[in-house]
Amino acid sequence: MGEAEKRIYIFDTTLRDGEQSPGVSLNLEEKLAIAHQLARLGVDIIEAGFPIASPGDFESVKRIANEVRGPIIAGLARTNREDIMAAFEAVKGAERPRIHTFVATSDIHMKHKLRKTKAEVKEMAVAGVKLAKSLVEDVEFSAEDAFRSDIPFLCEVFTAAIEAGANVINIPDTVGYATPWEFGEFVKAIRQGVPNIEKAIISVHCHNDLGLAVANSLAAIRNGAQQVEVAVNGIGERAGNASLEEVVMALYTRRNYLGFTTGINTREIYRTSRMVSTLTGMLIQPNKAIVGRNAFAHESGIHQDGVIKERETYEIMNPELVGISSNKLVLGKHSGRHALKLQLQELGYDLEGEALDKAFREFKQLADRKKEILDEDLIALVDSQVVGS
Ligand code: KIV
Ligand code: ZN
Repeated sequence: MGEAEKRIYIFDTTLRDGEQSPGVSLNLEEKLAIAHQLARLGVDIIEAGFPIASPGDFESVKRIANEVRGPIIAGLARTNREDIMAAFEAVKGAERPRIHTFVATSDIHMKHKLRKTKAEVKEMAVAGVKLAKSLVEDVEFSAEDAFRSDIPFLCEVFTAAIEAGANVINIPDTVGYATPWEFGEFVKAIRQGVPNIEKAIISVHCHNDLGLAVANSLAAIRNGAQQVEVAVNGIGERAGNASLEEVVMALYTRRNYLGFTTGINTREIYRTSRMVSTLTGMLIQPNKAIVGRNAFAHESGIHQDGVIKERETYEIMNPELVGISSNKLVLGKHSGRHALKLQLQELGYDLEGEALDKAFREFKQLADRKKEILDEDLIALVDSQVVGS
């Protein structure tokens, strides 16, 4: 870590908010496998689940707390006694247990969902944090729908939560409503409006309803957030949470400009992404940044030629850095002779001169009919030439 680089804590919520993705339900063994992989990946905190939600959730948080070593293990709880006691019972076996308690602070949520006044909500926050703090050393407090909350009230609640013992205060953009500029300003306003903020870590939790969760998280980091809450492949409620791999690789790739670092072993990113996709059944869009099938694939002749000569022409990170064995030159109608020649060599055909020209012409004709030319197509193409010549 460079001296000037500040460490950002990666709080992974794949097993809690991620599992809230519509249609996703992981069993205990699957959750354990993911939790072990998250530990290998090097996340700082695993939010293992919401123990009061179901006996299955309780059991899996407990098993993860008892078995997974390295990261802090957190359990989610509303601010009431029953939730907090369940979270405590579930996480208490962890090396470093955390209770993450939350209550909504926006007018919309307080009026329609909680049917509580501001004073009552503040009281709930303080009581929840105090109870959690009497059970574990590490307590995180979240103000649900923080971004749509009244800032002076939010600052009052955070100040009281820190006073009551919260080590981390989390600022969720629960409905993904923020834009990067204003979310950065919002975090700054909280930093300035909470007098005891130095006693706590500022965390952010961004949802992706406008496709801005990663950008909002980065804007928050620039304005003082030290913890980011993310999920592998960006899964989560509705459009999901900020994607772990995108936040981490943005911080890594642009570290000289941004000046932040994480404890993530980036080479475990791809494996983790595949595991989460397979076990949750949530497919990854081909053009998804970092882990999508096309993230390191080049199709056009100009790009392929550039990458063959020097990969930095069209690649800002090495695929090996995220655990992908190599980049991919996809042969299609935009590809050039150079890429075709190299791929044929890989397959054992060393074509030059007229033979290569002929193969290239036929390849282009085939590529007009077929989007992606596979190795089998190339073999058939060359073999038919040899046979036909
Ligand atoms: O989106 C949200 O507000 C949450 C909190 C429980 C942190 O998931
Ligand atoms: Zn959330």
